[in-house]
Amino acid sequence: MSRTIIVGVTAGIAAYKAASLVRELIKAGHDVHIVPTPASTQFIGTATWEGLTGNPVHTGVFDAGGADHIELARRADLIVVAPATADFIARTRAGIADDLLTTTILASSCPVIIAPAMHTQMWLSQATQDNVETLKSRGVIFIAPEDGALGSGDFGVGRMAAPQAIAWRALNVLTGSAGNESDLALTGCRVLITAGGTREPIDPVRFIGNSSSGRQGVALARAASDAGANVTLIASNIDASILNELPSGISIVSAPSAAEVEKSVMERLNHIDVVIMAAAIADFRPKAAHDSKIKKDPLSTEAPTIALEQTTDILAAVAQSSDRPSVLVGFAAETGTLDEVLELGRQKALRKNADLLAVNRVGHGHGFGDVDNSVYVLDHLGKMVGQASGTKSIVAQELISMIALRLGTIAR
Ligand code: CTP
Repeated sequence: MSRTIIVGVTAGIAAYKAASLVRELIKAGHDVHIVPTPASTQFIGTATWEGLTGNPVHTGVFDAGGADHIELARRADLIVVAPATADFIARTRAGIADDLLTTTILASSCPVIIAPAMHTQMWLSQATQDNVETLKSRGVIFIAPEDGALGSGDFGVGRMAAPQAIAWRALNVLTGSAGNESDLALTGCRVLITAGGTREPIDPVRFIGNSSSGRQGVALARAASDAGANVTLIASNIDASILNELPSGISIVSAPSAAEVEKSVMERLNHIDVVIMAAAIADFRPKAAHDSKIKKDPLSTEAPTIALEQTTDILAAVAQSSDRPSVLVGFAAETGTLDEVLELGRQKALRKNADLLAVNRVGHGHGFGDVDNSVYVLDHLGKMVGQASGTKSIVAQELISMIALRLGTIAR
């Protein structure tokens, strides 16, 4: 169903990126009206916005005559402001209505999404953070800026979130998928999720492992189950206290090593609609595990050499299988700057051929363990199609909504 969306554009270099956002929203079938602030037209002129949307564009309250601002505010189903400057956020918080955009927001009752873009210091300043907190407490949805290269040439947090990610969130808000519509979006759907981190035995007491806690996979299992799916969780070395959080309907299969995960996944494939590979699976394992504990020679300082062999790339094997599920989702844990992480993710998406690849920035407090998560979701060509950040449970719900969209079990 076509809805009326107002896109507010304020005076930042990222204004040009709003064009991609507008195109995504129009592509999804919506009637988009641009309301730029007067200063933003120094970056992108009104003719561009009129050309893109086919709708007239005004910046001042009385430009269109009469009570046009009230009329548009009343009709709007959603307002998205991208990019939003610190000044715009401050004026909105204070309820100042000195241009058409701030007036329209004040006169509307629909959901409002704000995607800030500004210099790091401005974003981190107490004034901006207070304004953001206050607006959030009034129900405004913020899409946090990312870290990366800024228009000023500096590097830090403040870059506007990707237009596709903003569009994704906007469409989600419109379909109400954060609320009730997606709740039973996967009814009857059979979902298999791998979670945790594998351990590859060296001898009976030692192994090669990794620090994945399994929390993101467990959150996905819960979200899929909450959405009505029939869930099987292939669990690799997940703490019982984490597994205990799961509802009783989920079937849990223990698979400590890569070989056991491979067997558990492949033998179930022909009964499965969705596979989500969230586990950190070893790429290499010892060629042969020792039958007995490897002992230190007290007379020698030599260390044993452990020969490794590659494990099967299970995600790629599922992608190539004749029983390939309707939706195959992979995860990519990468380190580096955001740009490096996205490029590695893009290459991996092309290599793995999953339908969706959730790229996860790990290390330095990101990704692993009991911390919030932030994932960028790419399609099989490496194009970003969504972003989710927040607690692992919120990220899981967003991913499950994206999967439901792919399956066509919820409409945009
Ligand atoms: N994966 C898999 N089988 C493996 C290794 C990984 O199915 N033997 C899956 C993971 O569950 C994840 C995705 O592949 O969904 C990406 O895992 P990752 O370790 O990031 O990628 P690799 O292919 O191992 O690439 P690299 O380690 O070189 O980055």
